[in-house]
Amino acid sequence: MRRLLIGGNWKMHKGIRETREFAKRLLKKELNISNIDVFVTPPFTSIPAAIEEFAGSRVTIGAQNMFWEEDGAYTGEISPVFLKELGVEWVIIGHSERRRIFGEMDKDLRKKIKMALHSRLKVVICIGETEEEREEKREKEVVEKQLKDSLFGIELDPERISIAYEPLWAIGTGKTAEPTDAEEMHRAIRGLLGEKGEEIRIIYGGSVKPHNAEELLKQDNIDGALIGGSSLDPEVFAEIIEIAGRVSC
Ligand code: 13P
Repeated sequence: MRRLLIGGNWKMHKGIRETREFAKRLLKKELNISNIDVFVTPPFTSIPAAIEEFAGSRVTIGAQNMFWEEDGAYTGEISPVFLKELGVEWVIIGHSERRRIFGEMDKDLRKKIKMALHSRLKVVICIGETEEEREEKREKEVVEKQLKDSLFGIELDPERISIAYEPLWAIGTGKTAEPTDAEEMHRAIRGLLGEKGEEIRIIYGGSVKPHNAEELLKQDNIDGALIGGSSLDPEVFAEIIEIAGRVSC
């Protein structure tokens, strides 16, 4: 039985003050999240504030990226050891914005995934195709290659590894994949994961909103959501969390 996983990816939004305010407003909602897992990934500098504000709650904290070494001459990078020291539990690896804007390649992501697991972080690996690749009907081939080059060969621990399917054309565009199309892709991804596939959580990302969350989360192979824009407002994020709680009952 896979527990639903709801992640809020804040991207480059919310400094310390806004992070504290968000946490207070979300916690005021007294959400019942005992049957799902919830995390948010603030920018690095806001992580300590988030850890402090969410302490004692069931909302856990993640990072949006990390480096593949523990220390060394890597100007501007963040070590997984530093993240663990803060109390970070999750790390997103290979978000399409990291791939597209910062040129991260699957071979780099493989090193990051290995180091994250070595550091006892829980990893959310992002994969997904562009609009052009989907038009050319190459979406399955593209995600298979992403998985093969970044993940295959690494031991799949379902407690520590989740996959986020985030089609690029759905991110920040308001266009969501049809729940049945997303379900089909999730099923295909699960099929590629071998014997551990049934236990690995595969979550969907791309314009998840309160109005479409239920339909998506009800699909058999969609085990949660990675949410950008709708995770920035605590009331809207809370609505999606409540929907997930209901769906998983
Ligand atoms: P949106 O929910 O804003 O489309 O962003 C999705 C995303 O990139 C989550 O990582």
